[in-house]
Amino acid sequence: MCGIVGYIGRRDAYPIIIKGLQRLEYRGYDSAGIALYDGNDIKLSKTKGKVSDLKERLENEITTDGTLGIGHTRWATHGVPNDVNSHPHYSNSGDLVIIHNGIIENYDSLRKELINRGYTFKSDTDTEVLVNLIEDVKKNENVKLGKAVQIALNQVIGAYAIAVFDKNKPNEIVVARLGSPLAIGVGDDEFFIASDASPFIEFTKNAIYLEDEEMAIVRRGKTVKVRKIKNDDLVDPYIQELQLNLEQIEKGGYDHFMLKEIYEQPEAIQDTFRGRLLSNEAMVKLAGVEDNMKKFLAADRIIVVACGTSWHAGLVSEYIFEDLARIPVEVEYASEFRYRNPVITERDIIIAISQSGETADTLAAIKLAKSRGAFVFGVCNVVGSSIAREADAGAYTHAGPEIGVASTKAFTTQITVLTLMALRLARAKGTISSSEFRHHLIELETIPNKVEVALKSDAYVETIADIYKDATNFLYLGRGYNFPVALEGALKLKEISYIHAEGYPAAEMKHGPIALIDEQMPVVVIATKKGHYEKVVSNIQEIKSRKGKIIGIVTEGDVSVKELADHVIEVPETIECLTPLLTTIPLQLLSYHIAVMLDKNVDQPRNLAKSVTVE
Ligand code: F6R
Repeated sequence: MCGIVGYIGRRDAYPIIIKGLQRLEYRGYDSAGIALYDGNDIKLSKTKGKVSDLKERLENEITTDGTLGIGHTRWATHGVPNDVNSHPHYSNSGDLVIIHNGIIENYDSLRKELINRGYTFKSDTDTEVLVNLIEDVKKNENVKLGKAVQIALNQVIGAYAIAVFDKNKPNEIVVARLGSPLAIGVGDDEFFIASDASPFIEFTKNAIYLEDEEMAIVRRGKTVKVRKIKNDDLVDPYIQELQLNLEQIEKGGYDHFMLKEIYEQPEAIQDTFRGRLLSNEAMVKLAGVEDNMKKFLAADRIIVVACGTSWHAGLVSEYIFEDLARIPVEVEYASEFRYRNPVITERDIIIAISQSGETADTLAAIKLAKSRGAFVFGVCNVVGSSIAREADAGAYTHAGPEIGVASTKAFTTQITVLTLMALRLARAKGTISSSEFRHHLIELETIPNKVEVALKSDAYVETIADIYKDATNFLYLGRGYNFPVALEGALKLKEISYIHAEGYPAAEMKHGPIALIDEQMPVVVIATKKGHYEKVVSNIQEIKSRKGKIIGIVTEGDVSVKELADHVIEVPETIECLTPLLTTIPLQLLSYHIAVMLDKNVDQPRNLAKSVTVE
């Protein structure tokens, strides 16, 4: 969490940093701040609230001159969101200023030591401890800033991406990374620093992604020097050419990123299987699977580790892998798995699913699994992310940047990759006939068009949203492949509209949740023709007789549910294992419209952040 931006070069730093912070606001948005070097001194302004609040305040408060600066948008960990706890933080002398993403776990003991040495603290943050530790080392050891950062970081336990500069040496910014991402954009006589490449994409396509335990001294007009934090070894930095473009990170005429991303799904799914699904040749090609086929075929089981929406995609994959490839699957919350002392063997395959590729719990879970000899396969969206790099092999989802905090296209593209994997393994294991395999490929190829059709329900879903927007609870029910979709529908509603919602397997209703049903309770039931249809219709009868309000997600042309439900939303017909790719669309739209009608901040819901890099 938290977004960091920095600039050193020949242009005005302020507009680059403020725009960069707006692009990184998905990472945290409870406070924001900027420090600029104006040629004489550091000018610092920070505030609780959004980057727009900072902008308003800052332009009246300080001069925005200067070609060197750093900025931060925060998701609070240590210390409540307020002006004082916002970053950047000064050292006691006022010479150094720092921004930080991550958590310094031993900050309390470091703080006590520094207090004993006469340091004082204004904020409750671990970051202010770190900048004073750097200052203390710099003075006591009489070393330059870069060396002081290195010595200080060797005393720190935790995770960080930092950028720090010294007003007495205003020609360099020192950056470092452990566990939180940090990219350096390399321009012509100028450098950009950011948590991801979006703040600098219009200025340069060349970027260095620091690895864990690396630091860099970024000097005006010079080359970037990268070193290992532990042993001072120089590293030859790899300058990567970015594929990202500006349109991908802008709203493109939509009111919200979430809506844009919902509508991008046909293309995103197509991009996910481009070059991988070869229906003419009746083939699926996934390099990460192909190269490790022996391991996959010898595996006793697959363990999926993930969080949130990615965990729901993992649950869908449990049905697909077991159904098609007959491989036993366990789906684990990464946060539980990592602390449970799980039984893991060398014959286990771990599939780590993560949009951001930075989720701390998922990263820790795969490190644990690797340490016990398991083979780790990553399904990530963000190229070059920590999980993608830590995994032994993997497949990217190629969904393009997902900026809305509520995950949408990440979910459907994750399911697409996992379906391709299951199909490839099923074929290799002979658990699916060649005609069935071909049929699945042909069907999967039709999904982008069918998602397009499902999106046409948008206006009708909006009318349903208007009817139920004031409900205080929602129930979502599904069976089989659509049980995880019910969970995902409930999560979408909760996180952006703050309405309490629960997802359940439809048949479990009678074991408890049915007690909740009365005429006030909207129940969203996924009842597609393929997938225990008659059983779900019986569940709908049970809801109806208790006067619940039924919103059915049905297959085009449905008759039975139409007779019972208060509203039905149709999606095109497809084979059972692919129905989640369609049934999830109206659920995304329903939560979106309700949140908009309730005037909630759809793209930046309270208390959340896009990339959860803390435990
Ligand atoms: C929900 C949502 C979160 C994420 C979760 C995992 O809409 O976005 O539940 O799915 O934080 O994030 P990743 O996939 O980046 O590991």
